[in-house]
Amino acid sequence: MIQTVNSIPAFDLKQQYNAIEEEVSAAVLEVLASGGYIGGSIVAGLEQQLADYIEVNECISCNSGTDALYLALRAYGIGVGDEVITTSFTFIATSEVISAVGAKPVFVDINEATFNLDLQQVATAITPQTKAIIPVHLFGQPVDMTELMGIAKVHNLVVIEDCAQSTGAMWGEKLVGSIGHVGCFSFYPTKNLGGCGDGGAITTNDGEIAAKIRMLKNHGQKDRYYYEEVGVNSRLDAIQAAVLQIKLRYLDTWNQQRKGIASRYQSYLSQLPNIITPHELGGG
Ligand SMILES: Cc1ncc(COP(=O)(O)O)c(C=O)c1O
Repeated sequence: MIQTVNSIPAFDLKQQYNAIEEEVSAAVLEVLASGGYIGGSIVAGLEQQLADYIEVNECISCNSGTDALYLALRAYGIGVGDEVITTSFTFIATSEVISAVGAKPVFVDINEATFNLDLQQVATAITPQTKAIIPVHLFGQPVDMTELMGIAKVHNLVVIEDCAQSTGAMWGEKLVGSIGHVGCFSFYPTKNLGGCGDGGAITTNDGEIAAKIRMLKNHGQKDRYYYEEVGVNSRLDAIQAAVLQIKLRYLDTWNQQRKGIASRYQSYLSQLPNIITPHELGGG
C-alpha cells in the first residue's frame, strides 16, 4: 500500500520570511511611508543589482516571468508566420507567450536524463520559419548552452532563456540569463528568488533590445505621451523590489542549501529499486 506523507511540505514560505522578517518588514514599511509605490529608486536599484549579479549590461523589471517572455518575443518582432522552438515539459507560460504574439510553438522532446530540451531534436526541428528558441532551465538545471548557442548561431536564431526556475544557476563560468540573447526571470513567490507577489525581469547585453523592452512594457511609450506601438502595462512595484533586493543577498546561500538537500535525497533515493533520480549536468 502506498502511504502519502503530508507532514513535510515541499517548501515553506513562512519559514523563509521568518528568517529575514526584520529586514523585510523594515524595507516594506519604508516604501509605504515614502509614498513612492511605482518605479523610482528602489526599482531602479534592484535592476542594477540584478544586472550586476547576472553580469549583464541591462536588466528591465516587469510584472511577471510570463510578461518577461512575452516582452522578449515582442522586442525581437516575433509574430504571425514565425516558429519558436521550445519544450512542452515546462509551465504553460513558456509556450503560451509564443501563441500570444501570434507565432507557432514547435515542441521538441526532452532529454530523459536532464528533463531539458533534447538538442539533437532542436537541430532537426529548425525550418525557414524558425526565428527563436526558448530553452527552459528546468528545476534549476541549465540546458547545455554551449551546444545550443552553437546551433542558434549557425541558423541565425534568437535564444530567449527561460530562467524562471533557475535564478543563480550556472553554465560553466556564466550565470543563466547572460548566455542567450535575453534571459527571462520570474519572481513568483515560490521561485529561487521570489517576491511577496508577482514580478519578473529581463536581462540582456543588447542595448537596443533593452530600450525596445522598456518602451513595450510602458504601453509602447517612448517619450511621455508619445506611443510608438501597442504595448502593455508591466511594472514591478516598489514593495516587491524592496523585498527582492534583500532576498538577492541571500540567494547564493539559499541555492547552496537547496543543492545540499537535493543531493541528500539523491543519495538515499538512488539506493532504492526502480527509482531513477535526476541526472545533474556538469555545467559545461
Ligand atoms: C519555466 C517557467 N516559465 C515561466 C513561468 C512564468 O512565470 P510567472 O508565474 O512569474 O508569470 C514560470 C513560473 O510560473 C515557470 O516555471
